[in-house]
Amino acid sequence: MAEIPVITIDGPGGSGKGTIAALLAERLGWHLLDSGALYRVVGAVALTRVIPLDDDGRLAAMATGLHIRITQDAVLVDGVDMTARIREEEVSEAASRVAARQPVRDAILELQRAQRRFPGLVADGRDMGTVVFPEAPLKVYLDATVQVRAERRYNQLKNKGLSVSLAALLASIQERDERDRRRAVAPLRPAPGAILIDSTNMSIEAVLSRVLDEARSLGLTPST
Ligand code: C5P
Repeated sequence: MAEIPVITIDGPGGSGKGTIAALLAERLGWHLLDSGALYRVVGAVALTRVIPLDDDGRLAAMATGLHIRITQDAVLVDGVDMTARIREEEVSEAASRVAARQPVRDAILELQRAQRRFPGLVADGRDMGTVVFPEAPLKVYLDATVQVRAERRYNQLKNKGLSVSLAALLASIQERDERDRRRAVAPLRPAPGAILIDSTNMSIEAVLSRVLDEARSLGLTPST
């Protein structure tokens, strides 16, 4: 049986990878893995259960025991809807901290790989191309300046009716970027062979069509 294809989209927060991954999965009719949501769930549950964000043993045991279901528009954890909660700033911070712990990453590795189902998977995160699906036929690394990424996040939150300061957002994005890039385990970096796209001055449609062109040239898309 032919390998089930995977397209990985990695990059820092606000680079547009979540949006691009969702649109790509929809266009191709493939499954979608939002791996950041899994780290957000672990971070959120750690806060609820008051587990220290560096307690590897308890974090890993908790992560292994959770039943996480991600549908198109909801994230359910042990049957509880945590869709809105995991997008809160407090949880973004906790997710970035627990994601730096190797035992946490190990605990959710198989769950991530199990999402590779017919006819294909679009996986977005930080280490999709470097660690989780290194053999993916198409790997993308999406970036943008930190200023533009902070503005995108700001607008996203504003549209949801949440009030945040742009300066505070910029500072926290910078801090999380640094942590993701410098951590010892699965640091954020382009996978070997990844195509690099700087989305700073590109529309969503332009990024999407660039990725679709690459997918087409590799024979990954249905013939059109
Ligand atoms: O992409 P998102 O902002 O939802 O990810 C939340 C956090 O999870 C990130 O700040 C990052 O530290 C972590 N993460 C990760 N590896 C992934 C996806 C997310 O370390 N594959």
